[in-house]
Amino acid sequence: MIRIAPSILSCDFARLGEEAAAVREAGADWLHVDVMDGHFVPNLSLGVPVVQSLRKATDLFLDTHLMITDPINYVEPFVKAGADLITFHLEAVPDAVPETIAAIRAAGCQVGISIKPGTPAEAVYPYLDDLDLVLVMSVEPGFGGQKFMPSALDKLRWLKAEREARGLSYLLEVDGGVDAATAPLCVEAGADVLVAGSAVFGAADPAAAVGALASL
Ligand code: DX5
Ligand code: ZN
Repeated sequence: MIRIAPSILSCDFARLGEEAAAVREAGADWLHVDVMDGHFVPNLSLGVPVVQSLRKATDLFLDTHLMITDPINYVEPFVKAGADLITFHLEAVPDAVPETIAAIRAAGCQVGISIKPGTPAEAVYPYLDDLDLVLVMSVEPGFGGQKFMPSALDKLRWLKAEREARGLSYLLEVDGGVDAATAPLCVEAGADVLVAGSAVFGAADPAAAVGALASL
């Protein structure tokens, strides 16, 4: 089963609740929440209060993508606010990955690790046993609306093969430039969760855009 996770980064934030309801109705499974700190990535987005409000507005699974320098400091607030899964960047805490995983688990939340386009898939291999999800970035994190980088496809293939070889069950998620043209390539390469921002909320009819991705 392929899950569709519309990224609210491309939402009309004044209508967040309505946008969430519309994509849910259209078959979205998750909502992807991009948190940026203006430090790990050169952009700012949203924080804990938005997750808190979203939690009241929707029962969609809140897939929280932390593009921040000190993820461990924000685990508890995001979990209390209602995050269902927290993904942090390997590049943010190269020397504190086990601690960060443990902190997210201790808070009672599912755990994901993300890697930027320049980071090899092998970098996450030591941690695969402890993960619910690996997020392969197919653009440089920080902005919506960028072009899909096909180098993500091989990483998905390798991480899928590794999952099979080790008998693990983490989900593979891909994020960045995913649309009706690139989504089939991602699914073919092994993605289980497709994040789509501008392809959904930038479309004239976001519900139809989710429907098109969900029918893959
Ligand atoms: C980028 C974010 C993405 C972004 C994707 O740093 O992590 O989730 O919203 O946007 P699109 O789908 O427009 O590339
Ligand atoms: Zn994201």
